[in-house]
Amino acid sequence: MQQILDDIAAEMAQEIDRGKVADYIPQLAHVDPNQFGIAVATPDGQLYSAGDADTLFSIQSISKVFTLTIGLGTLGNALWTHVGREPSGDPFNSIMMLEHESGRPRNPFINAGAIAVVDAIMMGHEPKETLAEILQFVHFIADDDSIRFDHKVAASEMAHKDRNASLAHFMKSFGRLKHEVDKVLGVYFHQCSIAMNCEQLARAGLFLVSNGVNQHTNARVISSQRSRRINSLMMMCGHYDGSGEFAYQVGLPGKSGVGGGILTIAPGKGSIAVWSPGLDHIGNSKLGLKALERLVEKTGWSVFSD
Ligand code: DON
Repeated sequence: MQQILDDIAAEMAQEIDRGKVADYIPQLAHVDPNQFGIAVATPDGQLYSAGDADTLFSIQSISKVFTLTIGLGTLGNALWTHVGREPSGDPFNSIMMLEHESGRPRNPFINAGAIAVVDAIMMGHEPKETLAEILQFVHFIADDDSIRFDHKVAASEMAHKDRNASLAHFMKSFGRLKHEVDKVLGVYFHQCSIAMNCEQLARAGLFLVSNGVNQHTNARVISSQRSRRINSLMMMCGHYDGSGEFAYQVGLPGKSGVGGGILTIAPGKGSIAVWSPGLDHIGNSKLGLKALERLVEKTGWSVFSD
């Protein structure tokens, strides 16, 4: 595995077309696109990494996997009255379907869906309490208490909140959000601002590799049924309107973020975190996708074969 990751990192270092760094969040526009990191955590407790795997980056929408897990833990199946579980086929920040479907977002990974999940898990709590709960959960699954919010990134998003605020107000007009829009957005922007490196993120995904148990810490995080279901959602919706392409090229559940990270789960085999800040036209990491294609070619990992 170490050789495979070293080869992939060396190959990615040669790439000229690295995509375009997200600039609609000004704080992310400053990130150097010439970076690439990859890490794989395996159920036997090993961690392999290459490239810039210990450089912190903004996990952005990857955090939606964690808040979905918290939401299902808190509300159980009642969460599905707040949000659907169908692929949208639309960009991550699209408002179109919301009008057709009475303000109920298609799935928990598009922005509207993640905002609805945050509103659901707030349940009358102050934003600070919900943020503490989210960070504590991330510490628990990553087995690392050093992970923090990046308040500058969160503030940068709040200052450029127009699109997400529109989604939230639109949902609220259908009676779908219980809390004040700015309070919900404050939590949502902070969850997206969490800074992690590939090694931490690969560890954080381990509970989805082994039927809900993090085999590094031996802690059961969720039931095996829930782990399967979260993986299904990642497969169908984790890359927005690029989910079909990701399933075709990589064949594993994955969740991307506009910071350029992708968390990918190979059930029973490993949790893969890859990061390169340049994005494709959909908003998913360009080299991240390429590196994952190489990894599955070399390992044969896929949910469609054994
Ligand atoms: O709300 C936003 O637009 C960002 N905080 C998250 C979007 C994102 O990561 C989309 N993923 N590729």
